Amino acid sequence: MRRVLVKLAHPVLERSRVNRHLFEAVRGLDNVTINDLYEEYPDLAISVSREQELLDTHDVVVFQHPFYWYTGPAILKEWQDLVLLHGWAYGQGGEHLAGKLTFNAVTAGAPREAYRADGYNRFTVRELLRPWEQTAHLCGMKYLGPFVVYGTLKIENHADMHEASTAYRSLIEALRDERLDTDRAAHSDDLYADLPALLPREVA
Ligand SMILES: Cc1cc2nc3c(=O)[nH]c(=O)nc-3n(C[C@H](O)[C@H](O)[C@H](O)COP(=O)(O)O)c2cc1C
Repeated sequence: MRRVLVKLAHPVLERSRVNRHLFEAVRGLDNVTINDLYEEYPDLAISVSREQELLDTHDVVVFQHPFYWYTGPAILKEWQDLVLLHGWAYGQGGEHLAGKLTFNAVTAGAPREAYRADGYNRFTVRELLRPWEQTAHLCGMKYLGPFVVYGTLKIENHADMHEASTAYRSLIEALRDERLDTDRAAHSDDLYADLPALLPREVA
């Protein structure tokens, strides 16, 4: 069984609608640790040793966050700058993250059709997350496609929220239980949409 670390980055979780639901859906699962970065470090004073220890003791690292200006909230950048050190995360002797799985779980205000070449955001979410993908690659991690909930500004009804939360929980559980086809997931543009194809069929 893999150990999953969900690094949640939302500056005002009390006012979140979507990330809060996603987070509630995976909270308390066996072998899943939630690390709420803004709660731990409201002044951005990140403990490098604590963060490295968390990484050392998990096999899957999920960065869950709203899409802010085509990337994540500021604390994630600070976290990358401080925690992913040369000689620890990459470079000579920097093999602590090698072989781990990672991906971004993103909520985007804009609808799915905005994130394509002829849409107003011009690029897919996966394309916009390229720095994350390359960072993972440099650290020897396997980068999976993003799990994206689109159109969050228009999600009004409970059913849509419930569907996204259920899919997110299924994804986290499948990664934990080694049931997800990670080779195919590494090529996905959207793990939410592709999830049914990446899971083994349940035997009735
Ligand atoms: C500072 C800021 C920047 C944002 N940038 C984007 C963006 O680049 N693309 C996008 O689709 N939505 C953007 N949004 C909308 C958020 O992604 C949306 O509010 C969020 O996914 C809702 O999730 P929540 O209910 O958990 O807060 C932005 C919102 C804020 C406040």
